[in-house]
Amino acid sequence: MPQLSTELSFDDVPFRGIVEQSLAGVYVVLDERFMYANDTFAAMFGYARDDFIGRRMVDCVTPDSVDEVMRNYRLRVGGAVQSIHYYTKGVRSDGQIVHLDLHASRVICRGRPALAGVALDVTDSVQRALELKRHREQLRELAQHVNAARETERAHLARELHDVLGGMLSSAKFDLARIARRTTQPDQGEVHAIANDLIALMQDSIAAVRAISNELRPVTLDLLGLESALRQALERFGARHDVATEVQCSGPSDALAAEAATQVFRIVQEALTNVARHARAQRVTLGIAQTASTFTLRLADDGVGLHATAHRKGALGLFGMAERAREIGGRLHVGEAPGGGTEVVLTVPMPGAAP
Ligand SMILES: Nc1ncnc2c1ncn2[C@@H]1O[C@H](COP(=O)(O)OP(=O)(O)O)[C@@H](O)[C@H]1O
Ligand SMILES: [Mg+2]
Repeated sequence: MPQLSTELSFDDVPFRGIVEQSLAGVYVVLDERFMYANDTFAAMFGYARDDFIGRRMVDCVTPDSVDEVMRNYRLRVGGAVQSIHYYTKGVRSDGQIVHLDLHASRVICRGRPALAGVALDVTDSVQRALELKRHREQLRELAQHVNAARETERAHLARELHDVLGGMLSSAKFDLARIARRTTQPDQGEVHAIANDLIALMQDSIAAVRAISNELRPVTLDLLGLESALRQALERFGARHDVATEVQCSGPSDALAAEAATQVFRIVQEALTNVARHARAQRVTLGIAQTASTFTLRLADDGVGLHATAHRKGALGLFGMAERAREIGGRLHVGEAPGGGTEVVLTVPMPGAAP
């Protein structure tokens, strides 16, 4: 096999054909004007090549790009830098913007310093990236809105349930107690027994309403603070799911603002729901450490681990948790716990702490 590359001289390569067919734009700038452009480069600006050649560089870019384009031009033509790779925005003949990825180097053309460059039209990918960014922002806003609305709704429902329904049940129980007190004659035995059954039923109902209301908006959180509310939540979780629980706290407790505390509580609730649903754990450990600068919470289970279960399509729990963390300026990490299982680690900067 002949060594083609060593036998060919540079002049043997038909560069003109290559350049003119190139799918990348190719251009030469001399004295700030395009003295050469291939069809591809001219088409990026919406021109036929003959209409494009001779145009001033500054007339082909957006006004906010002119300074950078000229600075880069002078750097290379002046010899300070040999070549530069950068992005800029061109203006097409119809006024539309074209995003360009350019790489151009200093050359000598007709005895003078000039630029020879290659360009790619990256408008589609820039627009896709922008659109993706916009959608992400919208999704965030939606998540924030949903979280806030849910919180308000829950608090409202919890209050209504507790105050209104709880109040009505208490009144009913009170009246039933009166009936029970007034039906002590032997011939009233049946009514007396019914009244007592109803009193027991009312008591259970009141307890159920309290439990539901507390689930919706834990009173402990408002009355006793985050640490107590979390301890209580863990205890209930352990009893309900027959899982051993452990809570370790260090540092001053309850220094987070009420709104942040609610978000933290909800994150733990959601994480516990995940443990119940997915982990098949025997032990759950909650650690809270607070310093002057950071609140750190770690909830770990000894279950099957994140990757043992199929990530449910359309699952939003972890996303919602991360979003809540972000809303209070914190960060959430979900990963493998040392020794297997899953851990959720939340860090939130303390109010007033330097970032
Ligand atoms: N503690 C955990 N143990 C094992 N797998 C988990 C745990 N938490 C979450 N996962 C996995 O992560 C996925 C996403 O969780 P999430 O977003 O809360 O959705 P969902 O709970 O609705 O399925 C779950 O479907 C599950 O596969
Ligand atoms: Mg979940």
